[in-house]
Amino acid sequence: MRVLVTGGAGFIGSHYVRQALSGAYPALADAEVVVLDKLTYAGNPANLAPVAESPRLKFVQGDICDGALVSELMTGVDLVVHFAAESHVDRSILGSADFVLTNVLGTQTLLQAALGAGVGKFVHVSTDEVYGSIDEGSWPEDHALEPNSPYSASKASSDLLARAFFRTHGLPVCVTRCSNNYGPYQFPEKVIPLFVTNLLDGGKVPLYGDGLNVRDWLHVDDHCRGIQLVAESGRAGEVYNIGGGTELTNRELTERLLAAFDAGWDRVEPVPDRKGHDRRYSVDITKISTELGYRPAVPFDQGLADTVRWYRENRSWWEPLKERAALVGK
Ligand SMILES: NC(=O)c1ccc[n+]([C@@H]2O[C@H](COP(=O)([O-])OP(=O)(O)OC[C@H]3O[C@@H](n4cnc5c(N)ncnc54)[C@H](O)[C@@H]3O)[C@@H](O)[C@H]2O)c1
Repeated sequence: MRVLVTGGAGFIGSHYVRQALSGAYPALADAEVVVLDKLTYAGNPANLAPVAESPRLKFVQGDICDGALVSELMTGVDLVVHFAAESHVDRSILGSADFVLTNVLGTQTLLQAALGAGVGKFVHVSTDEVYGSIDEGSWPEDHALEPNSPYSASKASSDLLARAFFRTHGLPVCVTRCSNNYGPYQFPEKVIPLFVTNLLDGGKVPLYGDGLNVRDWLHVDDHCRGIQLVAESGRAGEVYNIGGGTELTNRELTERLLAAFDAGWDRVEPVPDRKGHDRRYSVDITKISTELGYRPAVPFDQGLADTVRWYRENRSWWEPLKERAALVGK
């Protein structure tokens, strides 16, 4: 079996690859894993260091928009797991061209090549942000797409292309839409690693607006397990929400992180709100739970404590990245 993982040197993609190559997913026990990653500012070969010696790993540096390369790599592939994206909302507010290129054109390039190669399953990794913002309740998968940021608009566009390749061509595509992830190896521009590394450096943490925006936090390992369930058993053409973590306002999240460092509210620096800042995200995970038996397994307090410890113990991983991460977090 051969698996093509795009964006496998990023935060979530590298977790999936490390898990796949260390035997966490029995269906991939003997699989060859080909990683295609452009190594943008967010991609980092160090994220794959624990499995770099695996004879089952092949790493290719390249762009998912490169049709010739993508077609070549797609030959003989059974499963595509597509993580590669421009993923940071704040960057998409400053400039959205790269988001459209990678997230829309890149996804179309992969879908087209997968069709040509006759791959058995294509999992398109998307986000709950495509649904917009919801004050109460949770979105089921058939809710309208109402993206509010250039990032989420580009992801919604790619979801629609995935749907079209199934409806028009019968390509066996599944789309996953997950809530906010946290865990080790997350680039320190996103809010949890940004706050943790600032606190480790004795600095302040920038809190957007009134701090009352709500996010559902899911450990990256739970996300990747959900993706693998969809890869193995998801029905072609279907969308699966993944979430069911812990809903917290940004203030509550900040309080928990301050507590982990015995730090007080004086370490918080209020900053003007993000433009168009979505108030709340919440996905309904009934479908993946009942159809595929998915349930998140990592309790938030434990996952957060482990994550803080990982950043404490892996300063050499994140210190070189801090300068690249001058923007305020997600
Ligand atoms: N981080 C979250 O909380 C979250 C939640 C839900 C969904 N997602 C989705 O999961 C996926 C992975 O997110 P992440 O947080 O790991 O992102 P990330 O920014 O950490 O990693 C993205 C990876 O894609 C690579 N990449 C970017 N452009 C590329 C291109 N043109 N060609 C090849 N590779 C390219 C980068 O080098 C990097 O390794 C994304 O599709 C994102 O939309 C993320």
